[in-house]
Amino acid sequence: FNVPTPANEPVKEYRSGSPERKALKQALAEFRSQETDIPMYIGGQEVRTDRKMRVTPPHDHQHTLGYFYEGDTTHVTQAIDAALAAKEAWANLPWEHRASIFLKAAELIAGPYRARINASTMLGQSKNAYQAEIDAACELIDFLRFNVHYATDIYGQQPNSAAGVWNRTEYRPLEGFVFALTPFNFTAIAANLPTSAAMMGNTVVWKPAYTQVLAAKVTMEVLKEAGLPDGVINLIYVDGPVAGEIIFNHPDFAGIHFTGSTGVFQKIWGAIGANIHKYKSYPRIVGETGGKDFVLVHESANADEVATGLVRGAFEYQGQKCSAASRAYIPSTLWPEIEAKIKQFLSEIKMGDVEDFTNFINAVIDERAFNKIATYIDEAKQSNEVEIIAGGNHDSSKGYFIEPTVLRVTNPQYKTMCEEIFGPVLTVYIYEPSEFSAMLQLVDKTSPYALTGSIFAKDRYIIGQAAKALENAAGNFYINDKPTGAVVGQQPFGGARTSGTNDKAGSALNLLRWVSARTIKETF
Ligand code: NAD
Ligand code: ALA
Repeated sequence: FNVPTPANEPVKEYRSGSPERKALKQALAEFRSQETDIPMYIGGQEVRTDRKMRVTPPHDHQHTLGYFYEGDTTHVTQAIDAALAAKEAWANLPWEHRASIFLKAAELIAGPYRARINASTMLGQSKNAYQAEIDAACELIDFLRFNVHYATDIYGQQPNSAAGVWNRTEYRPLEGFVFALTPFNFTAIAANLPTSAAMMGNTVVWKPAYTQVLAAKVTMEVLKEAGLPDGVINLIYVDGPVAGEIIFNHPDFAGIHFTGSTGVFQKIWGAIGANIHKYKSYPRIVGETGGKDFVLVHESANADEVATGLVRGAFEYQGQKCSAASRAYIPSTLWPEIEAKIKQFLSEIKMGDVEDFTNFINAVIDERAFNKIATYIDEAKQSNEVEIIAGGNHDSSKGYFIEPTVLRVTNPQYKTMCEEIFGPVLTVYIYEPSEFSAMLQLVDKTSPYALTGSIFAKDRYIIGQAAKALENAAGNFYINDKPTGAVVGQQPFGGARTSGTNDKAGSALNLLRWVSARTIKETF
């Protein structure tokens, strides 16, 4: 089969008066004017419980967006049973029929559902229109289309045969069910984890973050309308450890597709290891986890490009991207110019509600995140190793608002240089140009993570030196660009060390984790 050649979905700009802006405003108003009912979906049925949980926008505590229904162990078991019941028919469906469903889902998001999924992401996860568009619309559409394309390549890869022998490889799905455990920060990632495994013939139990349920519901609406059969993806809202206790003890548990924090992934890995004798097959463990992403600047860099890269890389979506720039190493010769430009940018940036399209910064996701980030900032204010260059204020009275904050440290091992904060906090360390080689060591050794990182330099020898010295420090390495914004099909995404198993979301590498190949040799 020839599947359509995928191209990246163009990003819409939502300019004032544009049709897309009108549609988005209408979708926002619809969500605003009603309390959305958010059931679980198990075996194709909507499931409600008596534990109704309120959903509020992170930027507006007073508003109720709707209610989701929290499930318990019974629902986890029901979801596993539904996934197992749907498995045979789904696995045996010729792959092009599975592909058609995901291609249709991409069309629905590109067209009639675009405004709805963007609005749900804006209100539920506090993303501005541009951030929602590149996530919930473009990246999700790209995942769906490119995964079909990668699947075609995989199914087409066949071994050599000799005279009198025909060898072939069957790319079977895993035996059992797959667990997709997803984070709050990207609607696209949350949808990709169940759908990529399902594309390869697996059936899935999907548990999203409680702070992402509104967009998860819209994702399920799209998949149902695209024709996804009942039971292929079962969406449950159950406390993570409660769901894990049932799932990691189940003999048919075939794999986990996880994106979230390093600590949670390590617990999960431990639980799977402790239960390893219970499973029919060794489960696939795929996890994309935390980051402490660096920007290393050389004195040959362009200060303007660095300042823009730092502000966008550190503060878009309030720094709640695993890829966000959070530690920067800047030569003293360039710092005065970069500092002035950063301060100027930040003085022009507005913070507030997502429905005012002029706001660049919105709220962080919840109270836990707010308290964690605010504590780092407040401790920094007390430290004699830190100077507050910009921001530093926070206010949770209306929503969870934290000013974009830049800290300058004299100790390059200060905690905000090493630990993942996951908020709008950038820490900079200023070095003397003669210390550049030492900076390479410092960048490499300061944090246990290896997700993304950037080198800004014009000197080609320096770029080459940094690329080599930092080859294990980032799964995605950027030259003269911010460390965020990987595009499906262009920069396959994933990190090493404690940032993940590096199975590159949006690539054939990832899809290969969801098949168990059978080699067949036939002799004539
Ligand atoms: P999280 O680890 O708190 O939660 C992820 C999921 O795991 C959620 O569904 C949550 O409910 C569940 N969970 C939490 N504790 C659990 C437990 N003990 N057992 C089972 N399930 C549990 O992450 P988050 O706050 O939603 O997302 C932010 C984190 O995700 C950051 O660390 C960020 O770097 C990381 N992230 C990484 C990537 C990547 O590609 N590397 C992408 C996005 C986010
Ligand atoms: N795709 C997201 C980025 O690169 C995670 O920022």
